[in-house]
Amino acid sequence: MMFIVRSFLPVIRLYLLGLKVLLIQLFSRTFRLPVMPRQDGKVAIVTGGGRGIGYEVVRHMASLGVHVIIGGKDEQEGQTAVRKICQEYKEAKVEFELLDLASLQSVHQFVQSFKHRGLPLHILINNAGIMLVPEGRTQSGFELHFGVNYLGHFLLTWLLLDTLKDSGRTGHCSRVVTVSSSAHSIGKIVLNDLNSSQFYSAHAAYCQSKLAQLVFSAQLQQELQRGGFPVTSCAVDPGVVNTALYQHLWTPLRLVHGTLAPWFLRTPAEGAATVLYTALSPALEGELGGGYWADGCKEMTSPPTFDPELQLSLWESSLQLLGLRWHQMKE
Ligand SMILES: NC(=O)c1ccc[n+]([C@@H]2O[C@H](COP(=O)([O-])OP(=O)(O)OC[C@H]3O[C@@H](n4cnc5c(N)ncnc54)[C@H](OP(=O)(O)O)[C@@H]3O)[C@@H](O)[C@H]2O)c1
Ligand SMILES: *[C@@H]1O[C@H](CO)[C@@H](O)[C@H](O)[C@H]1NC(C)=O
Repeated sequence: MMFIVRSFLPVIRLYLLGLKVLLIQLFSRTFRLPVMPRQDGKVAIVTGGGRGIGYEVVRHMASLGVHVIIGGKDEQEGQTAVRKICQEYKEAKVEFELLDLASLQSVHQFVQSFKHRGLPLHILINNAGIMLVPEGRTQSGFELHFGVNYLGHFLLTWLLLDTLKDSGRTGHCSRVVTVSSSAHSIGKIVLNDLNSSQFYSAHAAYCQSKLAQLVFSAQLQQELQRGGFPVTSCAVDPGVVNTALYQHLWTPLRLVHGTLAPWFLRTPAEGAATVLYTALSPALEGELGGGYWADGCKEMTSPPTFDPELQLSLWESSLQLLGLRWHQMKE
């Protein structure tokens, strides 16, 4: 009995939430990105920028003059994206660099080769993600959703913090934007089993990773403010968007999804709007920096992000799992 409850409850909760969010989305106006100022001279890294929401984020930033580096694990997809964007915008500065978030070693290598170039970094978009993948482990032994969506981005952000700090100015803060999801609201962080090894539910694992990303972005914002650094950190819910993220849905659902998605879901460009807004809008300096954003507005988040104890425990466990030390933050 317990097994059935633990197996099906997360599934039912996620699909009910998805349905609710979709209905609300269908009956409300889609946020349209206002015209953003030119961004010449700025440098951005976008993880998973080869397709989906990330691709639209890269494309729009490139059109405004941002020098964008796509970090992704599929070289061919990445290079195709670069070629397409450069054809569309002759002046675009876009490149692809190999980054597999499932390998901590790959994250270290990516950062090392970026730093070697001596470029500044004004914008980091933690966008790459996986959803409902079968039980599996990253190269470093972490559960896949937790390892890719959360821990890989934690390490990436951490290693790039000094460059982000050096590149920001008061009134022109560098920005870390983490793409989370409304699915965070039904997520539970199981501190003594972050790898879901006692019991695996793909649905619960996805929600846990999205909540962890949100908790991380809030804790990071607090630390940055406390230290007075010219960097802000926020999280974004892009809405329900028609992308390849849904490829691991249960087959019958995937068929229904495939037929209905083009009609009822947001396009990737619509899904990218709030991500772009939080990354680029001059309105987000000062008071409006940080927080959780959806549909172009700052929203309230579910209670766990306000639970300082959970926030701190997750932060400390993550540093420990990644072999990082707290004092590095304070330099
Ligand atoms: N679509 C939605 O309805 C929705 C809703 C809420 C939140 N989100 C969030 O939005 C973000 C973007 O998703 P999407 O909808 O645009 O999905 P997508 O089209 O599947 O894009 C995901 C991207 O992440 C990359 N990625 C996956 N595993 C990676 C790894 N180990 N290392 C590096 N890159 C990796 C993929 O690259 P490869 O091709 O190389 O694997 C791909 O470019 C995700 O964080 C997702 O959770 C989406
Ligand atoms: C998760 O797995 C990693 C790698 O095997 C291990 O180091 C870590 O202790 C595990 N964490 C938890 C909380 O189970």
